[in-house]
Amino acid sequence: MNTIGTSLRLTLFGSSHGPGVGCVMDGVPAGLEVTVEEIQREVDLRKPAALIGTPRAEADRVEVLGGILEGVTTGTPVVLYIANHDTDSSKYERFRTVPRPGHADLTALGKYGDAADLRGGGQFSGRMTAPIVAAGAVAKTMLATIGVQVAAYTQRLGRLVDDKERCLKEVRRAARENPVRAADPELALEMVNEIMAAKEEGDSVGGVVRCLAEGLPIGVGEPFFDSLEGELAKMMFSIPGVKGVEFGAGFRGAEMRGSEHNDPFTIEGGEVRTMTNHAGGILGGLSNGMPLDLKVAIKPTASISREQRSVDLEQMEDASVKIEGRHDPSIVPRAVTVVEAATALVLADMCLRGDFIARKHR
Ligand SMILES: Cc1cc2nc3c(=O)[nH]c(=O)nc-3n(C[C@H](O)[C@H](O)[C@H](O)COP(=O)(O)O)c2cc1C
Repeated sequence: MNTIGTSLRLTLFGSSHGPGVGCVMDGVPAGLEVTVEEIQREVDLRKPAALIGTPRAEADRVEVLGGILEGVTTGTPVVLYIANHDTDSSKYERFRTVPRPGHADLTALGKYGDAADLRGGGQFSGRMTAPIVAAGAVAKTMLATIGVQVAAYTQRLGRLVDDKERCLKEVRRAARENPVRAADPELALEMVNEIMAAKEEGDSVGGVVRCLAEGLPIGVGEPFFDSLEGELAKMMFSIPGVKGVEFGAGFRGAEMRGSEHNDPFTIEGGEVRTMTNHAGGILGGLSNGMPLDLKVAIKPTASISREQRSVDLEQMEDASVKIEGRHDPSIVPRAVTVVEAATALVLADMCLRGDFIARKHR
């Protein structure tokens, strides 16, 4: 379905090559200051970088269709819209017969039959994440009212890994200053080269986005089934191209002893903290006051320019497919913006649900 969230409900609409994409956000408190410029700034961060991506001829422009009046939320649904431009659907017709490996053509045809909209990947396109990013900007202003901040960066790109411990402040600063959204400027250069090398070989490269959130109070989450981990994981797996989600030590925890994995408690500045953060800021499905530490694995872009093996669904025989058009050799840098926004949306929803965020601000 196309709606997510309980107290803050986000509904997406549109498709990659239709008139546009957008969202309706229900539950946004009244009286929050949020300008279209702020939303636009976030959406601009999602666009492909010149060197390593394939920019659209015309930049995305966010329109506010409701819920914000003179830079202040009114309490009615916030409706955001981004028109599609520069679309060429002709290249996608062939994928009805010869589906692209790694893409959703075959599964979409299986579910929706001939009516499936495969133009530009239809509803399965990364384009659907543009309104998520726009909505994330509004969610961030909700979180700011209680001092919660969210920041993401490229932690791994192919074989290149940034294994340094990072705080949110340095991530916020560094990751907006290079095209791969890395926290380390030197590693960023290597990552650019990694993407270029894959591109030259007609290939693509995946990676890991790490997202941190600081300032969360203890107790955000609604166990049993709406645990903070569960809600975040569901949102992350809705992002196209996401194939893994990990909190704190995650899968590494399976190799540890309890004595190593347990985060010892300590008192710091009159508050209970933990000395390590293998739990990733969540215990029992509830935030524990430590930074949320979330990692999201992004697969290498499915659309590569090399010839690939597929099948001809009319002839029911093996076939090959060559994909033309606009595709990023790595979606990881763009996914950084998306993961950050998606995290902000879940945290805003869960903080509203738990009465940590007020429903009226004036
Ligand atoms: C911001 C963003 C941009 C994307 N751009 C592309 C792209 O240019 N080419 C492509 O093959 N996949 C792209 N994807 C991923 C596909 O949409 C996705 O892999 C495909 O729909 C199959 O879904 P799945 O990988 O989640 O199973 C993008 C994803 C995101 C988040």
